[in-house]
Amino acid sequence: MTLIKPHGGLLVNRVDFNFNMKDVDKEVEIDAMALSDLELISNGTYSPLNGFMREKDYLSVLDRMRLANGVVWTIPITLPVPEVIADTLKIGETIKLKCQDEIYGIIQLEEIYKVDKDLEAKAVYLTTDSNHPGVRKLMDRPNIYLAGPITLVKTPPNIPEFSHDYKTPLETRNTFHHNNWKTVVGFQTRNPIHRAHEYIQKTALETVDGLFINPLVGETKSDDIPAVIRMNSYKILLKKYYPKDRVFLSVFPAAMRYAGPREAVFHALVRQNYGCSHFIVGRDHAGVGNYYGTYDAQQIFTNFHPNEIEIKILPFEHSFYCKVCDNMATAKTCPHPAKFHLHLSGTKVREMLRNGTLPPPQFSRPEVVELLRSELNQY
Ligand code: ADX
Repeated sequence: MTLIKPHGGLLVNRVDFNFNMKDVDKEVEIDAMALSDLELISNGTYSPLNGFMREKDYLSVLDRMRLANGVVWTIPITLPVPEVIADTLKIGETIKLKCQDEIYGIIQLEEIYKVDKDLEAKAVYLTTDSNHPGVRKLMDRPNIYLAGPITLVKTPPNIPEFSHDYKTPLETRNTFHHNNWKTVVGFQTRNPIHRAHEYIQKTALETVDGLFINPLVGETKSDDIPAVIRMNSYKILLKKYYPKDRVFLSVFPAAMRYAGPREAVFHALVRQNYGCSHFIVGRDHAGVGNYYGTYDAQQIFTNFHPNEIEIKILPFEHSFYCKVCDNMATAKTCPHPAKFHLHLSGTKVREMLRNGTLPPPQFSRPEVVELLRSELNQY
């Protein structure tokens, strides 16, 4: 394979559907976010992690955006449990991980530790404001974390409508290899693809072999457009406006953290594990509200030496439609004043659709608008 190496060197595989549960008695209930993390650790999407983080890695991630061994990692991947449950567990035990009456994995318990959630919020989200959806989620979860290597024993249920679109890093790597793509640009999104997205994707695709559209479909905040509707919109768009042999679509079943800059690094490392050589970071990547500056998610990469993060970041300025250029552009490529520029945010589009106003074709392809309008009405 000539593809980029996984982050940390090796693709982790912690899947064992024949794991012997005979002597494993204890079990703990995990939430949807932990279940998705369990799956993504097990199939190598989070390589080099092989389990939920131990305290020294967790603190090192908070403090210096690296694991204790120095490998870059910016988002804590942890397994919180209530104190009354933690009190019943012993270090060294193997424990079943259960979600809604189904056992999906085990953890070999190496550590139980208590955390300071304000410290975590400040480091990861740069705020302790509980209006921030990532902070709220963190504060809602318990503050005792279990740590140790995991094994996935059963695949978690996927959203049935796109069960064919779940691919492991091994599978995406095989696809890229089969397509003879040596360079692949990854694109993260939690929104329907609009013209600005399309513009930056296609600009990037001009210089690499393939485009990997990898929408996040795990937990998002309640006013984001549901993943099933988004997936339908991506498929319509790809069919009509993208070259079939240059684009690959599959989902990223992680929970959205809304951690802006730190999440941008995490998103990039994960796409390296999927086999991408390049990753797009545009305007306010993984941001929410006004918590982060427009380009903070690009600037954070200057904290790392090029040897530390192999995937190449393709930064893009805020793109818009310019009425004079009659084209998509950015401040870098358009000489005209702002009054000629059409900026629409995802939030504004959702509002327009819910009020029965159709976003203009300069903002979103009409086929996408039509699908969103009809599907959101039924929703
Ligand atoms: S994200 O939370 O998943 O980052 P979104 O789906 O809005 O949100 O964005 C996907 C990618 O497109 C991100 O890299 C983001 O920075 C970029 N992006 C979104 N809108 C624009 C825009 N108008 N101009 C440039 N980049 C953009």
